[in-house]
Amino acid sequence: MSSLPPSLDQILPSPLPLLMGAGPVPIPDSVAKANGLVINHLGETMNQIVMGINQMGRSLFKTQSEKIFGISGPSSAAMEMAVSSLLWTGRKVLILNLGTFSARFGDIARGVGAQVTELQTSPLTTFTPEDVKEAFSKDHFDVITLVHGETSCGIKNIYLPEIAQIAKAYGARIIVDAVTTLSTMPVEMDEWELDIVFTGGQKGLSAVAGVSLIAFSEDCFNFIMNRAAPMPHWCLDPRRAYKFWVMHEYHYTAPVNGVLALYEALHLICLETLERRFERHEKSSLTLQHCLEVMGLELYAPKGHRLNSVLSIKNKDQVDTKKLLLIMRTKFGVEISGAFGLDIVRIGQMGEQARPQNVRRVLEALGRAYENLSVKVDVDSGLKAFDQTTISDSHIRL
Ligand SMILES: Cc1ncc(COP(=O)(O)O)c(C=O)c1O
Repeated sequence: MSSLPPSLDQILPSPLPLLMGAGPVPIPDSVAKANGLVINHLGETMNQIVMGINQMGRSLFKTQSEKIFGISGPSSAAMEMAVSSLLWTGRKVLILNLGTFSARFGDIARGVGAQVTELQTSPLTTFTPEDVKEAFSKDHFDVITLVHGETSCGIKNIYLPEIAQIAKAYGARIIVDAVTTLSTMPVEMDEWELDIVFTGGQKGLSAVAGVSLIAFSEDCFNFIMNRAAPMPHWCLDPRRAYKFWVMHEYHYTAPVNGVLALYEALHLICLETLERRFERHEKSSLTLQHCLEVMGLELYAPKGHRLNSVLSIKNKDQVDTKKLLLIMRTKFGVEISGAFGLDIVRIGQMGEQARPQNVRRVLEALGRAYENLSVKVDVDSGLKAFDQTTISDSHIRL
């Protein structure tokens, strides 16, 4: 090597920007501390950690099932484990496609040889029970997949419970991507009879990217245990994951620091309680939505179908969103997300993002960045609206 690349200190901006995009999200100090620790991946201490994740996972997914596993990989790896467990050559899947992440289910399903049918909605709407009934009346499907909250456009599948009932009635299993919804709003795995639900670490959990969490219903797991078709994956085989996550045996070397960070993140969520956490997220997101509108910006997803944890905002005056995001980051120290093809920008309201001081900062940074590009927005009124709302009450640590 001719010369050594710069040191991390030379590369990283100081201070680091506040991450207010669609993930990864900021993490609490205690999660960062846990992420800096290394212990043996097997043995009594790790067993206790694994058992704790299983127990806290059950309350998070709202399930009695003990088949809850961490995954060394991104949310897409969890998606891959789910899809490859239930689909193989000759099996049929119905994909409810609301955008980028819903469509990923189809890519993975085709990869394992399944027959894929994709259902689309009209833009800016969620799937209805009627859409799904119609699809099932025309064809047989072994599996249906959907994304609870489609991050790419900010739309929520509000009829998930009803859709799950229809799938059950037609004998199909349902896989749910709860990456942007778990721990930010209700997900009732047992009550809604969901077969597989998964999330990533870097969103609502405010843990770290690269360690995900997946839950299988007992019935679905038994089905997978008894499937005759060979498993296409070794790392992502839930039957092998079961060995580590329930039997405390070796599968592969778990990412111990990420697992510790996940444990701490789940612990914080349980201490906060899901009820208070949902309330915090909703209040924070609704306040932000209101203040953005006061400022003169328009939300992309319509109210009834809007995902609170990732807000999609119409870009104003067709400015170059790359420039807008650059100004936000370099001048105001706040990062948000652009989009995949749509003329929108996206602000996250997941985990630590849904704190008053962070909401105020992103609101001001977005407004001022537009001003920098000579776009007319009323930043002061937006901030005034924020300061008048209850979430800025300092004694409530929302
Ligand atoms: C809803 C949803 N599903 C899946 C993914 C993929 O997550 P990852 O990048 O961790 O694989 C994302 C990422 O943003 C997402 O928002």
